[in-house]
Amino acid sequence: MAFPRNLFAVVTASGFTVLLAQGPNLTSVVTPAQAEAGRKAFQDKGGTSATKDAACAYCHTVALMGRTGAPGELPELGSLEPALQRTIQNDGSIPPLAGPKFMTVWGARTTHDLIDRIKLAAGPDEPEETSVNLAAYILQVNGAKSGTQPLTAASAIEIRSVAPGTAAQR
Ligand code: HEC
Repeated sequence: MAFPRNLFAVVTASGFTVLLAQGPNLTSVVTPAQAEAGRKAFQDKGGTSATKDAACAYCHTVALMGRTGAPGELPELGSLEPALQRTIQNDGSIPPLAGPKFMTVWGARTTHDLIDRIKLAAGPDEPEETSVNLAAYILQVNGAKSGTQPLTAASAIEIRSVAPGTAAQR
């Protein structure tokens, strides 16, 4: 029996066989335009209504790796408004939105779950499209391929099946 090249079968301890997508032939679930709009909303102050005075990147950093207070996290904490610096410091540590740690939390969840969580971050006044674009960008940074298939709020695709959690493919 032949499987598509990017799928492999895993028989779990409980005896179930699951198919996991892997490798370079990931299905694309976002368009380049969505990911680019998401990047802008993520990085630009005023890009989202809930964060008029901040951008997602101020807290989560432009590299999406979150903040621990370590040197080299951009934008530099000291460059932000004092009130935002205090908020960030009070939060202690801002979680990453990319990489292995993010995938541990989000890999088994769906794109729908991620969009719902982003809606919370973006706030109720923000059009759903912004949250979808932000999700597209976050997925792309986690290695999801972009193509002709747009991400929608109704899509419920297991995140680890389309994003390996490694560096973006550009
Ligand atoms: C003021 C700082 C700040 C800003 C601005 C901010 N976040 Fe966050 N974000 C946090 C903190 C702190 C957490 C962890 C606490 C929590 O889950 O509520 C978090 C959690 C998250 C999570 C869940 C992470 C996980 O592993 O569960 C997502 C997704 C997220 N933020 C996306 C965004 C997006 C997208 C934006 C921009 C619309 C944004 N955040 C703006 C501070 C911020």
